[in-house]
Amino acid sequence: MDVVLGANGNIGSYVVNELRMVKGGDPIRAVSKTGKFITFVRSYSVKGVKANALDLNSLQTAVKGASTIYHCIGRPYAKYSELRLIMDNVIQAATKEGPHTKVVYADVVHMYGRESTLKGPLTETMPHRAQGPKGKLRAELAEKLLQAHKEGRLQATIGRGSDYFGPGKMYNSFLNTYVFEKLGCSEIRLFGNLDKVHSFTFIPDFARALVTLGKSEKAFGQVWHIPHICSFTLRKTVESILKFDSTYELHVPPEFWDNEPSPIPPIRNMAKTQISPEYQEFLYQWEHDWQVDSTKFTQAFSFSSTPFLKAVEETCEYYYLAGGEELPKYEDTGKII
Ligand SMILES: NC(=O)c1ccc[n+]([C@@H]2O[C@H](COP(=O)([O-])OP(=O)(O)OC[C@H]3O[C@@H](n4cnc5c(N)ncnc54)[C@H](OP(=O)(O)O)[C@@H]3O)[C@@H](O)[C@H]2O)c1
Repeated sequence: MDVVLGANGNIGSYVVNELRMVKGGDPIRAVSKTGKFITFVRSYSVKGVKANALDLNSLQTAVKGASTIYHCIGRPYAKYSELRLIMDNVIQAATKEGPHTKVVYADVVHMYGRESTLKGPLTETMPHRAQGPKGKLRAELAEKLLQAHKEGRLQATIGRGSDYFGPGKMYNSFLNTYVFEKLGCSEIRLFGNLDKVHSFTFIPDFARALVTLGKSEKAFGQVWHIPHICSFTLRKTVESILKFDSTYELHVPPEFWDNEPSPIPPIRNMAKTQISPEYQEFLYQWEHDWQVDSTKFTQAFSFSSTPFLKAVEETCEYYYLAGGEELPKYEDTGKII
């Protein structure tokens, strides 16, 4: 049985969807803390279960009978330290299921730290040199899981993705929050150096890659960088989205048509003070080139990332269909970047 922890989350819900598409796949158990599931997770082929991963007994019940556990639980930065107990409990619960139990862990690339970023594209072999508490914690979590694998307590594989985007309301996605949600607004507010390269991962690709790892014997005992969808400068990525949006109405169904392409809004900078204090530790990622090297993954598996503009189209379509919501306002520093 495939058990997805964090099945109501951004990555977890796409993992559930991906597992449903595996021909002759195993039964799926979707686990969330609240027990509430977004629509596409609710399906005749998926059993939804409520469990709190901070409580070992609750988690053990939720993973009973699992052959593969997809650990896609996320916590907001203010509650990041909970991830430590959650990882301890995932390891213990998987160990109890037996040494053949597989754990596929959805991870970030924050453990390498600023110094590594300056050396060029991030690879799986780079040392964990994060200086901030959250980056250090992410290093600790991954190292603990791989140690449990080495000790033969379970089988672990780690898929590390860069900043993701895609269809869905995603408070923890840079592109969704600051660009896609603002389409149609008179300006776009961003932070970071627009002329530095930044890798982004398309979230459905992230999930497909995690399932690829989960279904492949050779993936275990290792870390893999998930193929990213684009590694352009931030300016090129954002302008491509804005240009796509400005002509989007020309190729969507007639009821959405407007006669003219929308004007492309200017990109202005956001004051640093507007960025959450919890996120300051990671701002270096937006001030230097931030490229994730996924050569190891693409050479080992037959995997094609979604073409960038196709991903942009799918994400725009989501926002057109979902409709707009009240969007947060940012202080105008008056600078166009
Ligand atoms: N943001 C990015 O760009 C990015 C990129 C790469 C990797 N990641 C990492 O990928 C992982 C998943 O991230 P995400 O953004 O998909 O997460 P997310 O959308 O924040 O979802 C988190 C899910 O975890 C569940 N959860 C939280 N606490 C739990 C608990 N105590 N017990 C059981 N379930 C619990 C929540 O369940 P309920 O909905 O029921 O509350 C929620 O569905 C995280 O480790 C994240 O850091 C993020």
